[in-house]
Amino acid sequence: MLSKDQKIEIKEILSNASACIIYTGAGMGVDSGLSVFRGTEGLWEKYPEAGKIGLSFEKLANPNNYQKYPEVVIPFYLDRYKSYRNAEPHSGFYELLGYVSGLKNGYFCVTSNVDGLFQKSTFNKERVYEIHGAIDAWQCSNYNCAKKSGLEGLRYNIEDTYNINEIDDFRCEICGDHIRPNICMFYDFNWYSYKHDLQENKYNSFSNKLKERRKKVAIIEIGAGEAIRSIKTESELTAYDLNTKVIRINKYPVKSDLNDPDVITIEMSAAEGVAYIMSLIE
Ligand SMILES: NC(=O)c1ccc[n+]([C@@H]2O[C@H](COP(=O)([O-])OP(=O)(O)OC[C@H]3O[C@@H](n4cnc5c(N)ncnc54)[C@H](O)[C@@H]3O)[C@@H](O)[C@H]2O)c1
Ligand SMILES: [Zn+2]
Repeated sequence: MLSKDQKIEIKEILSNASACIIYTGAGMGVDSGLSVFRGTEGLWEKYPEAGKIGLSFEKLANPNNYQKYPEVVIPFYLDRYKSYRNAEPHSGFYELLGYVSGLKNGYFCVTSNVDGLFQKSTFNKERVYEIHGAIDAWQCSNYNCAKKSGLEGLRYNIEDTYNINEIDDFRCEICGDHIRPNICMFYDFNWYSYKHDLQENKYNSFSNKLKERRKKVAIIEIGAGEAIRSIKTESELTAYDLNTKVIRINKYPVKSDLNDPDVITIEMSAAEGVAYIMSLIE
């Protein structure tokens, strides 16, 4: 439960902001029917084949392991590709879009998710930074070939009706190597980071400008977890630099979320939490 002061604080942050940065993690996708993994343990429940050979989250989610453990890693990414492609953005995306579209100094979305839901809900794709890449872009698993062939046009073999067992069908037409999503989770030296780097530069220049010009910014963070703390750390540091608090929506907050004086935590699901904070400025 939020205190009266916290409600007033949220209202003030949102009404006085001239810009907004939205940070999201796996929990943002849940109201769109996508599951969170809950680290390695949760992952093994969902993908028991990975559990059988003891493949940690770090290894399974690393597309570079396509070559080493193709029979587990490829179905994992194909399964995600299919479910993310079919997912529909929930109401929270559209409510946030309505809010940020009215801000004089614009917005940016920063996400550890690879599902493309910001773009699908018509956020400006120039204002999205996908820190681990995205599943809609694929590359050859050979870096040198990927660099030449790029990202576009490598989706040709991936049909909606794919048979998950036909692993060998998913190959680069140029060199015959496996194709893989243009996602980087951990230590992935074959990742072709061109698209990510462009997004990152745009985000850095956007946030640096806000810092230099001392703009009032709303920092809204949704569904970001502890398994990989990159999103939480980034939102907290940015809020600190911009002299504001993080408005954090998380259905199952950890203790430190609730005790941190620089964070206002709303214990709700993504869609519910966004509707709630927006109701405070109506
Ligand atoms: N949709 C996607 O692209 C997707 C899905 C799963 C995981 N991932 C990525 O994999 C990595 C690890 O993910 P993970 O799942 O182990 O993280 P995690 O389990 O550490 O974090 C998930 C967070 O979501 C919160 N949450 C759960 N349900 C929610 C809801 N309905 N509304 C709001 N918050 C909710 C949880 O409390 C938790 O803090 C991350 O980088 C993540 O972005 C991406
Ligand atoms: Zn190739």
